[in-house]
Parts: sequence; C-alpha cells; structure tokens
Amino acid sequence: MQILVTGAAGFIGFHLVEKILQNKKDFVVGIDNLNSYYDVKLKKNRLSILKKYKNFRFKKIDINNYKKVEKIFKENKFKIVINLAAQAGVRYSIENPKNYFENNIRGFFNIIDLSRHNKIKHFLYASTSSVYGNQNKYPLKESFSTDGPLSFYAATKKCNEVIAHSYSNIYGIPSTGFRFFTVYGPYGRPDMALFKFATSIENNKKIKLFNYGNHERDFTYVSDIVDAVAAVIKKPPKKQIPYAVYNIGGNKSYKLKDFIFLIEKNLKKKARFLKLPLQKGDVRKTQASTSKIDKLINKKEYIKLEKGIRNYFEWFNSKK
Ligand SMILES: NC(=O)c1ccc[n+]([C@@H]2O[C@H](COP(=O)([O-])OP(=O)(O)OC[C@H]3O[C@@H](n4cnc5c(N)ncnc54)[C@H](O)[C@@H]3O)[C@@H](O)[C@H]2O)c1
Repeated sequence: MQILVTGAAGFIGFHLVEKILQNKKDFVVGIDNLNSYYDVKLKKNRLSILKKYKNFRFKKIDINNYKKVEKIFKENKFKIVINLAAQAGVRYSIENPKNYFENNIRGFFNIIDLSRHNKIKHFLYASTSSVYGNQNKYPLKESFSTDGPLSFYAATKKCNEVIAHSYSNIYGIPSTGFRFFTVYGPYGRPDMALFKFATSIENNKKIKLFNYGNHERDFTYVSDIVDAVAAVIKKPPKKQIPYAVYNIGGNKSYKLKDFIFLIEKNLKKKARFLKLPLQKGDVRKTQASTSKIDKLINKKEYIKLEKGIRNYFEWFNSKK
C-alpha cells in the first residue's frame, strides 16, 4: 500500500514512518520542507535513518505549494494520507500567528483537498490536546466542548478538525484526527520542555517555570503515539459521516515538579528555577481519557513516564 506522510522529518513523523516501514508491504513517500523552526541537522539525522529503508522515498516539498504536492499525488497511487506537517508549539504562535495560518490552515487544506481529488481511502491528521483549552472536568473526553481554544495554534488545529468534518460529510472522505497529548521520546523536539529543561540543567542555567510550576501534563511516549496511529490506518470511520477524532495520551497526568524530578534523577544533577506567571495561551492541565482509542485498537498498556524518560536520556546522552 502506498502511503503519503507529510512532516516526515519531524519528531512524530520520523517515528511513525519508521514504524510503518517495518511492514515491508507498505511504501511510504515522506515530504517535509525542512524549515528551520529548530535545528535542521536533527531533521536530517532522522531522515538519514529513514533513507536506509528500501520502501521509503523523501521529497523536500512545502505543503503550501499546491502544484508540487499535486505532482506527488499524480506520480503515486496513495491509498492513505497522514498529515503531520504543521507549525507546532503553543508559545511560538503568540509572536508568529501568520506561520500557523499558512502551514496549519492553508497547507492542511491543500493536503485534504488533494486527498479527495485522488480518492484516497483514509485521511489521518494531527490535532492537539490544546483544543480543549481550560476545562473543569478531567480526564478530557473527545465529547467535551472545544469551542474555547486559548492559543492561535489550538485555533488552527480546531479548524483542521472542522474542515475534516465538512470534507467527510460533503465528499465522503473518511477522516481521523488525533489529539496528541505532550509527546516526548528520543529524537524529540528541542523546543519542548524535556529538551529545554535537560539542556538548562546541564549548563547550570535556570529553568523557566511558567505558572510557577503548577502546570499538569499528560506526557505521552512517542511509541504509544505511533503504535496507535499505525493501528488506526486500517480502521477508517464508517459512520454516515465518516469522521472520527481520538485522544492519544499517556494515561496519567503529572505535576511539572514530578517531571523535573525524573530529569534530575537521570542527569544526577539538581535544577535551578526562574518562576514566572502563567503565559498567555497556556492551558493549566491536560489529562486524556484514552478509552475511545483503547477500545478501537484494543490498547491496554502505556509506557510509564519513568521508563520513557530513561529511554529519552539514553538517546540524549548518546549524542555527546
Ligand atoms: N509533539 C507534540 O507534543 C505534539 C502534540 C500535539 C500535536 N502535535 C502535532 O503533531 C504533528 C507533528 O508534531 P512534531 O512534534 O513531530 O513536530 P515537528 O515540528 O517535529 O514536525 C513537523 C514537521 O513538519 C514540517 N513542516 C512544517 N511546515 C511544513 C510545510 N509547510 N510543508 C512541509 N513540511 C512542513 C517541519 O519541517 C517538521 O519537520 C504536528 O502537526 C503537531 O502540531 C504534536
């Protein structure tokens, strides 16, 4: 089966493509614009691993370029399209909303629109736990209202879900969105807390603790994310409007101080803090209800934070 994955040089894209490639019968075309939002070397390192697989091909393409993406669709017979390419990050969206509009809304439109023209069997895409905003009840269920996004990043992802719903309704294209909850693991993003905290501790720099460290997060190990996405590929929604959205979380919410404690333990060094007020756009707590995805794919186990962080540091330390 031919599969298109956008954002293939990204953190989740890399892990997902590698997971799919284990099945030798599948052929993956990965596209990515290799933008410099963070270290391009890391993206190239991920790609150099993927390029070792015979059933993988990479093209440097921007999903905003409709003509180029159209050509890729014409040259292949994709059955499945997985859109992970996006401008990620909540805080960066405060200063750079236009980036988010272009990559996450216009780019998303190009991919879903070409998917319907090419009659693909299942369109899958990344949404985010940020769509929930602040809620009073936890764990967060897919049925909760997502009408109050706090950041523009969340607004663009909510927009993706709404566009997908309309395309599933009008054109009958089966679509599945995934609300990922704070993903971490080897080859992780340098703009995210784990990498930033670890680097600050190593360099004796103070960690910036927004909301005075009172955030709570459901951290999800990357293999739990990609195992779930890969399992859903062959399970397109079949309802009258073939649209579905699933949380993928780690099944437990942690206080930031417990997360930092595990980092300190692995680095054998204490952190120093710069405590700051809540940053605009940040949600205070995330905790996923995973019962919907667990039922669909019969998932019973999740990687515990302690083990996941240990795995992360094996990679982090191996880079030195
Ligand atoms: N990592 C998380 O915790 C998390 C949580 C929720 C949702 N998500 C979503 O999951 C997806 C993957 O996230 P990630 O953590 O792997 O981020 P990432 O930044 O590592 O990966 C995204 C990739 O997309 C590429 N890209 C961006 N704009 C593009 C464009 N216009 N054309 C082609 N390529 C483009 C980037 O170069 C990058 O390699 C994103 O949609 C993100 O919003 C991630």
